[in-house]
Amino acid sequence: MPRADEIREGQRLTWAGLSASWEKWDSVIMRQLGPVSVAMIECLNIHEDQEHLDIASGTGEPGLSIAKLSPKGRVVLTDLSAQMLAVAARRADAQGITNIETKVCSADDLPFGDATFDSVSVRFGYMFFPDMQTATAEFARVLKPGGRLCASVWTRPEANPWTQIAMEAISTEVDLAPPDPHRPHMFRCATPNTVSALYEATGLHDISEWDVGVELVADSPEMYWQMISEHVSLAAATLQQVDEQSRMRIRATAIAKVRAFEKNGKVRVPGVARCIVGTQ
Ligand SMILES: C[S@@+](CC[C@H](N)C(=O)[O-])C[C@H]1O[C@@H](n2cnc3c(N)ncnc32)[C@H](O)[C@@H]1O
Repeated sequence: MPRADEIREGQRLTWAGLSASWEKWDSVIMRQLGPVSVAMIECLNIHEDQEHLDIASGTGEPGLSIAKLSPKGRVVLTDLSAQMLAVAARRADAQGITNIETKVCSADDLPFGDATFDSVSVRFGYMFFPDMQTATAEFARVLKPGGRLCASVWTRPEANPWTQIAMEAISTEVDLAPPDPHRPHMFRCATPNTVSALYEATGLHDISEWDVGVELVADSPEMYWQMISEHVSLAAATLQQVDEQSRMRIRATAIAKVRAFEKNGKVRVPGVARCIVGTQ
């Protein structure tokens, strides 16, 4: 079993390195993942004076959208990576959002008192936590009685060609080891009920999960490849291990495959996320 501090350090370094790319591709990422934020927010019962905690906020979603719906409330954006949160703070400034705070901390060790928040969100963070059960217990601890927790994760790779095309192209040049279930991986929570079981074990009730479709829209196959290779953690990390010639062959393979998704002058590649809600 890998050590928790080793996983946290790896994640800190990974996301510090990816933060500039997430800022660069912000509008494409936000458009792709927007439907997931909408689905999560719908089940969180956000009021104008909500005390909300966003975990693994990265560049700020869904925390910033919740802050806009809660002008008399407060949203705390937390993440392991100071660099990702710095992007979130710049996005908040650009949108004139002032009712937020940022805090660098790990999901499994929250610096907040018991029963502090009305709601907690975790968009695409769960799969990166060293100990997902400890993290879930922390979310339940800081929720007020009756407060809601909503998370989203990716479903299986085959339902997510937007990333799978790139990973299959990479696998033509690199031996990709099968993912270790104890280590962070984009599809670590893809099996149905993975997160529901964590909620249940923590004593949350009214648990349900459902799938939400997304679509990555790029102006061209070349733009698709540039974006994916720069901001998807697994793709970016693996591409660093290969030489320039391999990289060019991988790029050509991915671009050829993604052409199947060209429509009306755009590339539109689908994916499926899963949302999981529970009540404290
Ligand atoms: C895919 S990004 C998601 C960002 C944002 N919620 C979104 O959906 O756009 C994953 C984020 O999880 C954060 N992360 C990884 N491990 C973490 C941990 N142990 N505690 C808190 N955040 C963590 C990373 O730093 C990164 O910002």
